[in-house]
Amino acid sequence: MSTDKFIKKIEKQLPGKVFTDKEDIFCYGFDASSTEGVPSAVIRPSSTTEVSEIASLAFETGTRLVPRGGGTGMTGGAVPMKNTVVLSFEGMNRIIDIDHKNMIAAVEPGVINQHLQDMLEEKNLFYPPDPASMKFCTLGGNVAENAGGPRAVKYGVTKDYVLGLETVLPDGRVLNTGGITYKGVVGYDLTRLMVGSEGTLGIITKIFLKALPLPEEIATLLCTFSVLDDAAQAISAITSSSIIPRTLEFMDHESISAVENYRTFGLPLDSEALLLIEVDGPHSVVSRDAEKIASLCSSFNGRISVADDMFSKQRLWEARRAISPALYYLKPTKINEDIVVPRGNIPGMLRSLRNISEKYGLLIASFGHAGDGNIHVNIMTDKKNKDEYQRANDALKDIFRSTLDMGGTISGEHGVGLTKKQYIGMELSETSISIMKSIKNIFDPNGILNPGKIFPDD
Ligand code: MLT
Ligand code: ZN
Repeated sequence: MSTDKFIKKIEKQLPGKVFTDKEDIFCYGFDASSTEGVPSAVIRPSSTTEVSEIASLAFETGTRLVPRGGGTGMTGGAVPMKNTVVLSFEGMNRIIDIDHKNMIAAVEPGVINQHLQDMLEEKNLFYPPDPASMKFCTLGGNVAENAGGPRAVKYGVTKDYVLGLETVLPDGRVLNTGGITYKGVVGYDLTRLMVGSEGTLGIITKIFLKALPLPEEIATLLCTFSVLDDAAQAISAITSSSIIPRTLEFMDHESISAVENYRTFGLPLDSEALLLIEVDGPHSVVSRDAEKIASLCSSFNGRISVADDMFSKQRLWEARRAISPALYYLKPTKINEDIVVPRGNIPGMLRSLRNISEKYGLLIASFGHAGDGNIHVNIMTDKKNKDEYQRANDALKDIFRSTLDMGGTISGEHGVGLTKKQYIGMELSETSISIMKSIKNIFDPNGILNPGKIFPDD
């Protein structure tokens, strides 16, 4: 049966939930990467039973499905390939339960990350994973991509908070993994396998998340440097000190000026780099740690200012979260990467990026989660300028090589999706890729779930 027949049948089964008009489905063809596609249809289910019905029919008919959250991914994970049907979770956006006694939240996949944060905060609870797109991205997408964010340096990433999942398999069966306990070691950890599987193994329909107590106090420091290498040395000094900051974010000069050009936030344009550092905890600990971090930064010639009211804190974070959109004002094509190196190699990596930028004559803006060793490297170019675009792609390979030579990884939080699939062989051995493909085959023998993602084309 063709996709058209699947669509006709599912329209009858789920009236009002299937969309095929061009104007209704157009915006489901993009994410925050530079890839795009057009789905054959978009379905908005409202329950696990409906998702299961859709998957069963898709399995029977060989129809290919693409699960989609907020569409904020950076690697094309939710971008539909040709002849695919998008499953979008706007209709499954309930916070099912916040269990204060057990410190657990149960949510549907379409819940916006920030909504859960706000709801928990009212109850003095805290869900740390905070992707830059937290105001728009969904928790289902966060789980599928194992999203991180600035607070990962102290609190870890999404996988560290997922206790259990309800997932619909590509043949319609419902699989429950993990649960609502903080521990559990019965059998293989299928929950961990699902987290970060980029929608290729199952369709997430319910998520059980761990919550923490809300930290009592947060101190926010801005530290600016006239010399890039001083900032890099300060990062290394902090990550090897006895303090684990809540965030340790880095912005180079190109990122600072892109953001200031986009909107005036008041960041110092005369600096080569800045660090946005937060520490949290009880009052006495916060003031002690903030002082220690300030003195570490000063010893590398950093100039410190403390954001002491909510307004200045928010302004700094708004500036940080605006980097990605701001960069598009520099050049139309952004090759955005999220390499990670062992944290002590940050100074070496930043030097290497500078050399690569000079070697290829390209504008490279770097920023990100320096405390994790995770740098968002953005090669700014224009696809239409063939020569420059070729140089950008050559530079990208050099960046990946240099990252791997330092013992790093080519993706810390954005995943592989479409944009990085041709490079996974640089990092993973043939044996790893073949085991991963076998796992995919067990879950999805007909290859109908999020086809074309992660693995290089044969
Ligand atoms: C961020 O940290 O801002 C995001 O991961 C997005 C990006 O890399 O542009
Ligand atoms: Zn990031």
